Amino acid sequence: MRLERYPEPEVNLQAWNAADSYLLDWVAEHRTTGDGPCCVVNDSFGALALGLVKAGEQLVVSWSDSWIAHEGARANAAVNNIAAEDVDWVPSTRTPSPPRPAAAFGLVVLRIPKAIDQLQDQLRRLAPFVGPETLMVGGGMTKHIHTSTIACFDDEIGPATTSRARKKARLIVARVDPDTPRPDADSLSASGRARIVGPTGLTFVSDPALFSSTRIDRASALLLDAVGSNINWEPITDVIDMGCGAGVIGLTLLERIGRLAMTFTDESYGAVESSRAAWEENLAAGRLDQLDHDPRFIVDDCGSTIADASADLVCINPPFHDANTRTSAIADRMFANSARILRPGGRIVVVGNRHLGYHSTLRRWFTTPTVIASDRRFVVLSAGSRR
Ligand SMILES: C[S@@+](CC[C@H](N)C(=O)[O-])C[C@H]1O[C@@H](n2cnc3c(N)ncnc32)[C@H](O)[C@@H]1O
Repeated sequence: MRLERYPEPEVNLQAWNAADSYLLDWVAEHRTTGDGPCCVVNDSFGALALGLVKAGEQLVVSWSDSWIAHEGARANAAVNNIAAEDVDWVPSTRTPSPPRPAAAFGLVVLRIPKAIDQLQDQLRRLAPFVGPETLMVGGGMTKHIHTSTIACFDDEIGPATTSRARKKARLIVARVDPDTPRPDADSLSASGRARIVGPTGLTFVSDPALFSSTRIDRASALLLDAVGSNINWEPITDVIDMGCGAGVIGLTLLERIGRLAMTFTDESYGAVESSRAAWEENLAAGRLDQLDHDPRFIVDDCGSTIADASADLVCINPPFHDANTRTSAIADRMFANSARILRPGGRIVVVGNRHLGYHSTLRRWFTTPTVIASDRRFVVLSAGSRR
């Protein structure tokens, strides 16, 4: 099978890893094809979901928090002559259930996430849909699998064992224990998640899959301080919170200036849904005054679906990791798209670690950036559209 990363192939980075190959080999050895529906969790670029379809599986659900992972897998399906409709692409904001009449998945293949809280959350949400007949296997790189990872499978699913390491990857196989207490599916919705309270009293969803889920990030707070005193808000209406996470930047700006038309965008389904939930809750609680415009909530890659010349200001605290790999590719795409999205006279405001050198990257697309705030670790830069 030919697999590429999405949206662009990256030199030196492949679209699958040793854990994916190990998982597929394990499935080939232990599963009778077609024995109940399959659920693939946290696949990136389709290695697992498309691998199962190629192996003859007809009922495959791919559950992910990443829009890019889903889009990338659909693009790879086309390259490999697989119909994208052969897989049911389920965002993390819904819980995947086996297609009727099945009551349980026959196979769950899970790429183990780095955050243990996220693993626990995913296993809890899957638990109502697995049974003693379900083959349940997780895989990851050895350095990310700890005693607590195995304990998590033990506690949420049933007795778990680990495989030997192969090419620095390891598997965890859990036997579904019918006596392990299972939460019912409805009790695990986003509305049941914890909240964090920001410095101004706004509340945000706290979710293990979200960036900075237990506190407001220091860099975002610095950006918010800086734009308060350094931006002329008078000509500004349309604002983009790009890579919005829990929505801290966009909602805080709306709290200050209720007439803004705010767009929240992220590639994480959960992030965009959490921003929407926080907006609704803060509005209902009277923490936001009635706004002039309803905000927009968009899941895409770096604002890729936002119209040209449609915004006056873009605010970004860019990620500098993609899964476990350090990369400037996402920040670059965010800057390039912002240049396209901004109107003449528009501005971009970016916060980042000093060593990331955004000052010189921004110059590729914008006027020379000005430092509008800094501390020991971070700088906030503001640059104008070249239109
Ligand atoms: C450093 S966090 C900032 C979150 C939020 N703005 C804050 O300040 O708390 C970066 C955000 O970028 C998002 N992100 C990563 N890759 C992305 C992409 N390709 N397109 C859009 N958002 C992306 C992540 O999901 C994450 O929410």
